[in-house]
Amino acid sequence: MSNVTIIGAGNMARGIGTRLAAGGNELQILAPNAAHADELARELTREGYRATSGGVADAITGDVVVLATPYEGALQFAQSRGSELQGKVVVDITNPVDFTTFDSLVTPPESSAAQEIAKRPPQGVPVVKAFNTTFAGTLVAGSVADQDLDVLIAGDDADAKSVVTGLVESGGMRAIDAGPLRRAQQLEQLGFLHMTLQDNLDSGYGSTVKFVTP
Ligand SMILES: NC(=O)c1ccc[n+]([C@@H]2O[C@H](COP(=O)([O-])OP(=O)(O)OC[C@H]3O[C@@H](n4cnc5c(N)ncnc54)[C@H](OP(=O)(O)O)[C@@H]3O)[C@@H](O)[C@H]2O)c1
Repeated sequence: MSNVTIIGAGNMARGIGTRLAAGGNELQILAPNAAHADELARELTREGYRATSGGVADAITGDVVVLATPYEGALQFAQSRGSELQGKVVVDITNPVDFTTFDSLVTPPESSAAQEIAKRPPQGVPVVKAFNTTFAGTLVAGSVADQDLDVLIAGDDADAKSVVTGLVESGGMRAIDAGPLRRAQQLEQLGFLHMTLQDNLDSGYGSTVKFVTP
C-alpha cells in the first residue's frame, strides 16, 4: 500500500484514482479547482475507505505524486513545487500532443515529457513514466474485453520504478518494465499513435495497448 497524491481531478485522475483506491492505497486529490478534487474524492470514498482532497497549492501528503494534468501543467508543477517533491516519487502520465495539428508531439527532438519534467525540480527527483498508454475509461473499468490492462513503466531509479510497479499491481493491472526514462520517448509516441488510431479502430478511446505472450 502506498500514500499517493494525484494532481488533477479530470479523466485520468478518476481512472488512476479508481484503480489505486481498489488496491487500498491512500489517496489525496489536489486540483486548481478544489471543488473538482472534492467531487472526485467523494466518488472514490466508500465504506471503510476515504480519499482526501484540496486545492493544488495545498501541502502534498503522498509519497508518490501522480501528475494527472496537461503536459504544461505538469512542467509548471514540477518546477514550482520541486523542493516539496524531494524524497517522493513523481509519476508522469502525459501525452504531450500538439493539439493544434494533432500531428506531432510538442517535446524537443530526442527528449520526452518525462525527461523534460525530470529536469524541473532543482535538486532532481525520480520521475517514472507510466499510464500514458492506458485510456481513462479503461482504467475506471479495470479491463478491456476481459483482459487486464498493461501499464508500461519507464524510469532510471529502480526503487521508484518498484514503487510504481507495486501500485499498478495493487490495482489489478500488469506492470511491464519498459526500461530507462529515455524510453518515455517511445511510450509517448505509442500513446499518440493509439490516440490517432481511434477512428480506424472505431473504439471511442475504449481500446488498450496489450502485449500478448504465450
Ligand atoms: N484522457 C486519457 O485517456 C489519457 C490517457 C493517457 C494519458 N493522458 C494524459 O493525462 C493527462 C490528463 O488528462 P485528462 O484527460 O485527465 O485531462 P482532464 O480531464 O482535462 O483533466 C486535467 C486536470 O488537470 C488539472 N490542471 C489543469 N492545468 C493544471 C495546472 N497548471 N496545474 C495543476 N493542475 C492542472 C485540471 O484542473 P481543474 O479540475 O481544476 O480544472 C484537471 O483536473 C494529460 O497529460 C493527458 O495527455 C490522458
